Amino acid sequence: MKIAPSILSADFAPLGEAIARVEAAGADLLHVDVMDGHFVPNLTIGPPVIESIRKRTRLPLDVHLMIEEPERWVETYVKAGADYVTVHVEASAHLERTLALIREAGARAGAALNPSTPPEVLQYVLDDLDLVLVMSVNPGFGGQSFIPSAYEKIRRLRAMLAGRPGLVSVDGGVKADNAGALALAGAGVLVAGSAIFGAPDPGAALVALRSASEVPRRA
Ligand code: DX5
Ligand code: ZN
Repeated sequence: MKIAPSILSADFAPLGEAIARVEAAGADLLHVDVMDGHFVPNLTIGPPVIESIRKRTRLPLDVHLMIEEPERWVETYVKAGADYVTVHVEASAHLERTLALIREAGARAGAALNPSTPPEVLQYVLDDLDLVLVMSVNPGFGGQSFIPSAYEKIRRLRAMLAGRPGLVSVDGGVKADNAGALALAGAGVLVAGSAIFGAPDPGAALVALRSASEVPRRA
């Protein structure tokens, strides 16, 4: 299981320290939430902050674009240091082209699905995907409650991707108490914001999340 701490719930002033803590605790990816105040009702960070983060960590940057017309920005985010660029299918009218742009720019391509979006929209782009991001909350804010329909969506995506290397990642309301069930459903990446950065010791919270995700395999 890969664990991707989402910095949305970190304190942005001493951000470098927060990142160093989760990197030392064994994070696999660093999840960076980019919001434009249009696609989602919140505004976060953009390319200059990602450039600064890139200089401070060796972790792959998993950039989640919650923005309209993401195709206009793909190259900028890859240049800023994104290793994965994930766009929302609801925001990209020509998804196949956008995913190709991401790979051509030199990053791995991801598609995110809002809770109300069925997985079948990805049926004809399965070979163009390195990652599918299942939103288990409506995007825009950290600390929301997990929407359980994500379990079935993950199972369906895992079946659709059979034999392909694409990762299924889940984002929103991920905690130690649902990590095991998400692993069983087929998630390969757990994105967690408040469960990690909202804890008094983010490193210990990350380790606890990973061990909770491993319980089903030990049983
Ligand atoms: C929400 C973001 C998430 C957010 C998750 O729109 O995409 O990455 O940080 O936060 P938690 O883990 O607190 O639900
Ligand atoms: Zn996210």
